[in-house]
Amino acid sequence: MVKLVAINGSHTGTKGYTHFLIEKLFKGAKEEGADCEEITLAKLKINICKGCGVCNTEKHLLKCIYEEKDDVAMIFNKIREADIIIYATPIYVFNMSGLMKIFIDRMNSTGNSGDFRLSESGLFFHHISKDICSKPFVTLICHDNFENEMSKNVVSYFRTFSKFMDAPQAGTIIRRLGKLTAYGKDPEKEKQYPKILESYKAIELAGKELVTKGKISKKTHKTASQDIIPVPFFSILKNFKGFKKKALGKIK
Ligand SMILES: Cc1cc2nc3c(=O)[nH]c(=O)nc-3n(C[C@H](O)[C@H](O)[C@H](O)COP(=O)(O)O)c2cc1C
Repeated sequence: MVKLVAINGSHTGTKGYTHFLIEKLFKGAKEEGADCEEITLAKLKINICKGCGVCNTEKHLLKCIYEEKDDVAMIFNKIREADIIIYATPIYVFNMSGLMKIFIDRMNSTGNSGDFRLSESGLFFHHISKDICSKPFVTLICHDNFENEMSKNVVSYFRTFSKFMDAPQAGTIIRRLGKLTAYGKDPEKEKQYPKILESYKAIELAGKELVTKGKISKKTHKTASQDIIPVPFFSILKNFKGFKKKALGKIK
């Protein structure tokens, strides 16, 4: 049985849009028989790495000072058992949530930085715990703005993560304009933006594809991450300042 583990990095936990989107993905995956588990970081104790370096000393090699004091070791064990990880984060000020980054920083204690290696992509790096860091993964991003630029830092971050950590990217889903559609909580709002429902169906399909093919197809990624504003050629027009100026005038 395929096991999917979603790390929900939203500070709003199971009340938020990130959770809503994870549930869509899981719906499809469960229909294909997957075992799905969401780990809600906001509900757990995740200490901030304080950079003490104890995990890289001979006596305490790869043992974090917080190992028995918070929930990170438990999460790492869940990751070990998983086939695919979903790193799910809202955009907070052009980047992943603070909580997600705090969690990922803790992976540093699972690698021996004095034991130099080349990554599979040929990058100079060091030993890593492959059973935690190298799992195939999906990046699931949501935010309120409609600009593609808004999620670029996170997309780029996880591309780099993939290369240094030898972790295959199984897909990316970017859901813009969550607020406009009431974060999936108002069917009337969703009716005004029919493409959002198409997108949610595609996110369910993405869940199915992860189980049956091990990755999200390009077509499914495109539909799941599509623009939802019902203006012809919006995806092209939104790149023009003149169009945005005019639209702003109408909103104000
Ligand atoms: C601290 C903070 C910063 C945010 N920064 C951005 C941003 O830079 N760009 C954007 O489009 N949305 C931003 N948002 C909106 C969230 O990305 C958006 O509402 C997301 O759907 C929240 O997910 P959640 O409901 O799971 O918490 C921000 C929200 C918060 C709380």
